Amino acid sequence: MERTFVMVKPDGVQRGLVGDIIKRFEQKGLKFVGLKMLQITPELASKHYGEHQGKPFFEGLVKFITSSPVVAMVLEGKDCISLVRGMMGATDPKKAAPGTIRESYGIDIGRNVVHGSDSPESAVREISLFFKDEELIDYELSLDSWIYE
Ligand code: RTP
Ligand code: MG
Repeated sequence: MERTFVMVKPDGVQRGLVGDIIKRFEQKGLKFVGLKMLQITPELASKHYGEHQGKPFFEGLVKFITSSPVVAMVLEGKDCISLVRGMMGATDPKKAAPGTIRESYGIDIGRNVVHGSDSPESAVREISLFFKDEELIDYELSLDSWIYE
């Protein structure tokens, strides 16, 4: 089983999309092991998006991601890092496949509603940036045998 870090960005929270987005992950069969709302500080934003430092969109990205609360979560499931990236769709909503979250809810690249870790290394790094160990709950889902063969 794999874990990934997912976040409904400020635009998704402001637009009342949190429930719809969470529902997609629940209905897919992924397990929530952590969930909270927070306002990202500029310091946390710079760490989270550190790989983009120096790029032309970096300043706007930090301003946007710190502008209003986000909903952060840790999801668990088989191959869930790539699974979630697939469910989110391409970074630019205009290029996202039909039915994906970004295609369904977004228009501009800088307002693409949702974030998901892009690799196992990013997932470990991002989970530890946003969640303390004690905020992640290990529990059995009795549905698992109906989701996995
Ligand atoms: P994210 O990290 O937010 O989940 O998005 P991503 O992996 O699909 O894309 P990434 O390359 O990590 O970019 C982070 C965010 O920066 C904005 N961006 N703008 N104007 C541009 O060319 C540009 N490129 C990226 C997007 O909002 C993207 O989600
Ligand atoms: Mg990224």
